[in-house]
Amino acid sequence: MKEIEKQYEKWVYPKPIEDMEEFITKTGGTILSNMQFYWGLFFPEKRFNKKLDVLIAGCGTNQAIEISLSNPEWNIQAIDLSDTSIDFVKKQIKKYNLKNLFIEKKDILKINYNAKFDLVISTGVIHHTQNPKKTLEKLIHSVKKDGALYIMVYATYLRQGIYYLQNIFKYLNIEQNEEGVEFVKDYIDNVIPKTHYAYRYIDGSAQLKRESDLYYDSGIVDTYLNKVDNAYSVRDLEELLSNSGGFFQNWINNVYFYPYTFLDEKRLNSPLYKNIDHLSQFEVGDLTQNTIINAGKLDFIIRKQKKFENIWHNIDDINDETFIRKRISVNLTNDPISKKNNVGGSVYSSESKYRNNFNIIERLTWHAIMSESDEESRGIILSEAFEGTKGLLKDNHLNYNLNQNDFKIIIHKFWKLGIIILQKNGSP
Ligand SMILES: C[S@@+](CC[C@H](N)C(=O)[O-])C[C@H]1O[C@@H](n2cnc3c(N)ncnc32)[C@H](O)[C@@H]1O
Repeated sequence: MKEIEKQYEKWVYPKPIEDMEEFITKTGGTILSNMQFYWGLFFPEKRFNKKLDVLIAGCGTNQAIEISLSNPEWNIQAIDLSDTSIDFVKKQIKKYNLKNLFIEKKDILKINYNAKFDLVISTGVIHHTQNPKKTLEKLIHSVKKDGALYIMVYATYLRQGIYYLQNIFKYLNIEQNEEGVEFVKDYIDNVIPKTHYAYRYIDGSAQLKRESDLYYDSGIVDTYLNKVDNAYSVRDLEELLSNSGGFFQNWINNVYFYPYTFLDEKRLNSPLYKNIDHLSQFEVGDLTQNTIINAGKLDFIIRKQKKFENIWHNIDDINDETFIRKRISVNLTNDPISKKNNVGGSVYSSESKYRNNFNIIERLTWHAIMSESDEESRGIILSEAFEGTKGLLKDNHLNYNLNQNDFKIIIHKFWKLGIIILQKNGSP
């Protein structure tokens, strides 16, 4: 623990953002700055509630400030081990006069909050602890019976090459100092081949690009010279969660964990692919990442109640009353209701940088969801979307008799693509 504390005191991470208001305005912030849109990912059974008791465990430099500025009615407790990060957060609390954020130095392993919080956020932290299982249990213990946890851990898939590099730097006894950082930069730029697995991460990690971690010293220490760093496959995560007191609810973005990204409809419906339908959410997620290898982290929600386990993975959980909300930053190419061009379109999500092709029925379904989703609620009840799609099929003179079950399959596909969020009982 001391090692990690020392590391994050000297090598402050992430890079401190001085002007957080400007950052949120410019980038739109993270999902935690846009809770009215993403609420269903956290609490699919509940109506949107502005007032929450929240714990941010291992808040680092910026996360607590961003969340506190974006959610003025939340009551937020933040903890971290690094005095440097805590001092920066305290300075920002003063600067923005934040009344809803309290921060203190505390080790997660030593917390004793008993069912105190509605939401516990811990991203990029437990894989840096000596005992991730115990750390996770402490966090789960802190959440109320109907509360939720938002957790992010490193994923093995995209990071494979990073662990090869970490091994090398351990063999060579490279230390966390300026000399060590220069050594790492030179090794990556000039020694490893350009085909090294690490380049998948370096080139593929949006976060690395955004923060230019490769040329930011603390980022280099965090990535290549970290004292404690354990990544998880989806199956390792299943193991981590077993007997933890919490249940896996859903991924933050399904697009990385369902096979629509690489299998077309024809293959998916052919016999040798059929077993996919019988796989658990973990199995299908692992299969997907073993194929596309583009996840460097696993972002997901845990609940304390089993009744929310793997919600929506099973299509039977979707019914007429299910509320459908589009995720932000998704665009449809092609004129959505064009009659003369009765072909599908494609949907592009800048969040995942993934383009998916639609057939005509999917295009009209997407349009029915979009057109009914006003900016305020951005959502529609499934039965209404179904009627809307049937109407559009008729307007386009398409002689296609869409039944409710096939419609649900389309909705489920949209969910698996991470372009919609589902909520229970028509509750926006
Ligand atoms: C990679 S940073 C992530 C920061 C932040 N959650 C984010 O997403 O930007 C990890 C942070 O967790 C803190 N940390 C690591 N182990 C901890 C522990 N056992 N208890 C509290 N904080 C811890 C570190 O000091 C560091 O600030």
